[in-house]
Amino acid sequence: MPATTLDQLVSLCKRRGFVFPSSEIYGGLQGVFDWGPLGVELKNNIISSWWRTNVYERDDMEGLDAAILMNRLTWRYSGHEETFNDPLVDCRDCKSRWRADHIRGRCPNCGSTNLTEPRPFNMMFKTAVGPVADADSFAYLRPETAQGIFVNFGNVLATSSRKLPFGIAQVGKAFRNEINPRNFLFRVREFEQMEIEYFVMPGTEDEWHQRWLEDRLAWWESIGIPRARIKIYDVPPDELAHYSKRTFDLMYDYPTLGYEEVEGIASRTDYDLGSHSRDQETLNLTARANPNRDSTARLTYYDPESRRHIVPFVIEPSAGVGRCFLAVLAEAYDEQMVKAPPSERVRAVADALEAFLKSVGRNEKLASETRDALVERGQAILAGLPETMPQIETLLAMPGADQIDIGKKLRGQAQGPIDEYFRTVLHLKPHLAPIRVAVFPLKRNHEGLVAMARELRAAIQSGSSFRTVYDDTGAIGKLYRRQDEIGTPYCVTVDFQSLEDGTVTVRDRDTMQQVRIPASEVRAYVTGRG
Ligand code: GAP
Repeated sequence: MPATTLDQLVSLCKRRGFVFPSSEIYGGLQGVFDWGPLGVELKNNIISSWWRTNVYERDDMEGLDAAILMNRLTWRYSGHEETFNDPLVDCRDCKSRWRADHIRGRCPNCGSTNLTEPRPFNMMFKTAVGPVADADSFAYLRPETAQGIFVNFGNVLATSSRKLPFGIAQVGKAFRNEINPRNFLFRVREFEQMEIEYFVMPGTEDEWHQRWLEDRLAWWESIGIPRARIKIYDVPPDELAHYSKRTFDLMYDYPTLGYEEVEGIASRTDYDLGSHSRDQETLNLTARANPNRDSTARLTYYDPESRRHIVPFVIEPSAGVGRCFLAVLAEAYDEQMVKAPPSERVRAVADALEAFLKSVGRNEKLASETRDALVERGQAILAGLPETMPQIETLLAMPGADQIDIGKKLRGQAQGPIDEYFRTVLHLKPHLAPIRVAVFPLKRNHEGLVAMARELRAAIQSGSSFRTVYDDTGAIGKLYRRQDEIGTPYCVTVDFQSLEDGTVTVRDRDTMQQVRIPASEVRAYVTGRG
């Protein structure tokens, strides 16, 4: 079953080092995160899968990696200086700041309705380029990667001799000074986008928009997000961005959050190339482009058939890497009861949980929302025991739980049965798993087993595009559980029979079944399975 709460994912990411708060030792920076050792592998695998599908497996795409810093004029003519705003309100009572469209007229911090009128807040980060901070050195950190593609359209066309339709793909950082970053990786101030600008003949854009919608859904399916878990939101005209003729938002059913945007697929007409072009009056633009006296180029395409220079229309599929990462984790997440724990141990955990919840209810130092959240979650776990037992770890990681002394007793009661009878497993597609193969010696103090396991690890790793690790830091059962929790599809054990006949066991993460095969065949075995 996929994750049911965002807290389960936050807790896993923290426990196993997928994601860390940025500059945590100095108190962190709101809305900014660092990728830990496993997080960077999963993130890179998501990006590689996107690049492979959209650049290598098609014959109508080129790649690009434009700089984050761009000439300020880019953002004037793209429309961002004028329109990339969120409506900001202040609470007059507690002085907190909110996005007006997120709070329905009431301060989420203190409940007051004494709010200022909404006013526009531009979300672009500003910086200065060079030693003197003046009007000439002023620059923005890009709020989307897309503009790097538009301003390079002429360069790519001239150097690649592409014919329409064709596209340019780019993955890179974007920065937005979000008023309220929240929900872990979902809304942050520094993030990565995977964007495509696909250039088509005017008049064919509706057909291509539909084709891209299908292609993108197929990719989401290939990374483990079933079609049924995504809703397509056909954005109504009054909600469309300034550049868009029509947009489909792909909405994933996130735990806790519900359906939220993971990717937008916009039909951007000739707005962008038109806005960045000179001599606009000669281009027969359909969009209300921004009048441009600064550009040195006409961003047009020479159509050999009509023998005319035209401004292509654009379809833009744009996905956030962090939101994709969260969706992949949520979908892969599973807490399984491997064997039913004895009833007396379940009873003991239930008693400790009840005592914990009573103590939470009595604790007047906790804010009432914190108390209610803990009690609500705890009651749900209590009602679902024994299957819900692993969620006690998440409960104890929730805000306020560390202030309940009896929480230690609950942890003590629950930890044993959780370790013994349950496993957390990430059913990640093998091509996304941070680690594809883990190799263990049956005994860590046996020279022969250790040497063979280390050699085998190196042999599997050599020349592979995935990661293989060696581990001997626990008993085999514990090592399996640790790898299950981070989604490693294959665990290979070198045992005494291996020393005699050169075979090893390969355990499958999802079925927990083992097969015995020659060590020399392991690499082909794990490579052939995705
Ligand atoms: N070039 C078009 C564009 O940037 P967008 O809908 O603003 O469109 C595209 O952003 C995607 O980028 C979103 O679907 C989302 O996945 C991701 N994204 C946007 N803002 C984000 C934020 N503050 N934190 C994390 N991801 C974000």
